[in-house]
Amino acid sequence: MRIAVYPGSFDPITNGHLDIIERASKVFDKVVVGVLRNKSKKPKFTAEERVGLIERVTAHLDNVETDSFDGLLVNFAKTHHASVIIKGLRTVNDFEYEFQMALLNKALDSECETMFMMTNSKYSYISSSMVNELAGYKGDLSELVPNEIIPDIKKKYE
Ligand code: PNS
Repeated sequence: MRIAVYPGSFDPITNGHLDIIERASKVFDKVVVGVLRNKSKKPKFTAEERVGLIERVTAHLDNVETDSFDGLLVNFAKTHHASVIIKGLRTVNDFEYEFQMALLNKALDSECETMFMMTNSKYSYISSSMVNELAGYKGDLSELVPNEIIPDIKKKYE
């Protein structure tokens, strides 16, 4: 069974993330979305909230599950018997950092392969920080995130 992990902060999940998850779920037998719990920057949504939002918008995908993690990504991948890390690339700016991370993860675990998926061009401008910025200005989020989680995001910014 080919299992992949798709890691990130997902603070919150965006249409760009969901597009990668849907496409990866067609390529792999199982995709485990990994929500990083602790990051130096304080997340807007708790890890439980972020997992909950992802579970709701991926409910239609039978071979996708979501879990949160602390610590090294390669350890999270091992726990889930995943041999592949999926990363999405939006712009050339993402590349240098992701390239470095891929090499580092390979050095930490030589069995672990990182595979990159190009974002759907219609989502290339979307990031969680843009979602949060727009939500702070009470802007229209309908192009950026799945409709069913818009009320949850708005509630954070009331
Ligand atoms: O959505 P993000 O914030 O760009 O995702 C970053 C993430 C979670 C993929 C990255 O921070 C990560 O892998 N963190 C886990 C710690 C780790 O394994 N770091 C690499 C070796 S130091």
